Amino acid sequence: KEIKIIEVKSEIGAGTRGASLGVEAMKIASLDLKSDFFKQYDSIEVENVNEMLYDGAEHAHAKFIDGVMIMEERVCLEVYEQLFDEFFPIIMAGDHSTAYGTIAGIKKTHPKKRLGVVWIDAHADLHSPYTTPSGNMHGMPLAMACGFDNLECKVNDPKGETIEYWEQLKNVGVAGPKIYAEDIVFISVRDFEKPENYLINKHNMSFIETEDVKKLGPVKIAERALQMLDHCDYIYISFDVDSMDSRISTGTGTPVPNGLTVDEAKVLNEELAKSPKVCAWEIVEVNPTLDTENRMAEGAFEIMEATAKAIMARPVMAE
Ligand code: ARG
Ligand code: MN
Ligand code: MN
Ligand code: MN
Repeated sequence: KEIKIIEVKSEIGAGTRGASLGVEAMKIASLDLKSDFFKQYDSIEVENVNEMLYDGAEHAHAKFIDGVMIMEERVCLEVYEQLFDEFFPIIMAGDHSTAYGTIAGIKKTHPKKRLGVVWIDAHADLHSPYTTPSGNMHGMPLAMACGFDNLECKVNDPKGETIEYWEQLKNVGVAGPKIYAEDIVFISVRDFEKPENYLINKHNMSFIETEDVKKLGPVKIAERALQMLDHCDYIYISFDVDSMDSRISTGTGTPVPNGLTVDEAKVLNEELAKSPKVCAWEIVEVNPTLDTENRMAEGAFEIMEATAKAIMARPVMAE
């Protein structure tokens, strides 16, 4: 399968501005590292709505949800089109909210199949407008995908208009939930709030800690994660660069200590991508405005390039 790069320069789901520049920062990194990666594969850009940031359409517990809604629809359609045309999509995105659009696009392509998700991130991104501590929608894509409100842990009282959008969001691509919570494997998640913890326990969600990656090594961990999703037909990998340690991930909006090294993340993604079930790979949250000498983008680019190589080298999946 040929790779197609989908560029999603959206940053409206993040609390800090600048994640929309992550894609270009990774292109600059590829030049500095003398790679011809971007000449090897075609790319297509999904039109963004970053100008909606200045419209003042406030939804305190789901900021810019009107714009996020549009982006989810667009990403969903693009991913659907590329999968339909038999490409393997590598999605280079800004803030993590649009990962839900990717999941919706995969589900629209394979509505009867069971989709597993490997979520490599410092965060669980399981909030709803009812539970979010920040109102930033990059903390919500997995709740959208599972259809979770988590009213048991309600701390906010979102406005009626906000909830209307939230309910609409759940139906992007195909109506209703796209994945089961038990089909998510979290890797390196280490900064989450009580309402997220509640869901993780309630649904007995799979959880692999940074410490496990360091102890067992990324090869074994990839094997274990794939095993956990053995019952799924397809697998989507979502790689948030803040999964890496805050000493490395300086160029991201929400850095967290005790994360992965670039090497661990690289081998982990490579090994996961070797599975023929993996049908899409996404990298998010590179923010060069917060970085020093584009180091975050360089690390991120290295990981993306290695993962792409692993994807191109694998045997064709029997349908
Ligand atoms: N849980 C926090 C929040 O909802 C942080 C989320 C960070 N998410 C991310 N994709 N970087 O605000
Ligand atoms: Mn198109
Ligand atoms: Mn994230
Ligand atoms: Mn994160």
